[in-house]
Amino acid sequence: MTHTLMDLPFDESALEPYISKETLQYHHGKHHAGYINKLNTLIKDTKYEDLSLEEIVKTSDNAIFNNAAQVFNHNFYFNGMSKKISAPSKDLLELFINDFGSFEAFKEFFLEAAEGFFGSGWLWLSIDDSGSLVLESFSNAGNPLLSDHTPLMTCDVWEHAYYIDNRNARAVYLDKWWGLINWNFVSQNLQALKQKRLS
Ligand code: FE2
Repeated sequence: MTHTLMDLPFDESALEPYISKETLQYHHGKHHAGYINKLNTLIKDTKYEDLSLEEIVKTSDNAIFNNAAQVFNHNFYFNGMSKKISAPSKDLLELFINDFGSFEAFKEFFLEAAEGFFGSGWLWLSIDDSGSLVLESFSNAGNPLLSDHTPLMTCDVWEHAYYIDNRNARAVYLDKWWGLINWNFVSQNLQALKQKRLS
């Protein structure tokens, strides 16, 4: 199976002035595409060739894992952003209140963790086995599939996500990114998990 680069769910200039067209051209068109190309080269004629992306992430290691996970992570990241204003669903808001005290407390907790994260990696909001929200950070290509949690949203804190627009000012990028979160996507991920656990 050949993996293909997802289309962005918006135009390259749609997130301006928060995230520039140039950043997306590099981030999606060069970095994300590069991981796909490398993955396809690496899995050719191996046992991973016919597996789904998630199956590869869960069963591989080293270079194949790094490239497969980076494809999965970037798919999640780009699908999780929109310039359209949205809000967390009632169910998600209830979880923020139960598990973090309030939505504002969650925001502060998430952004502080993302700003303070050392090096390149990903911040994730996930659901654990007990149905609680968990904030997880992973270096390099890590993601919640490794901890058997269900991912709801992610923020890319590799410098390539923000260097063109903000140089090394990660906090400035995070502030802009927060305003672009597609809460419909995050809420739908929670809803899908609920339905799966009920079925
Ligand atoms: Fe990235």
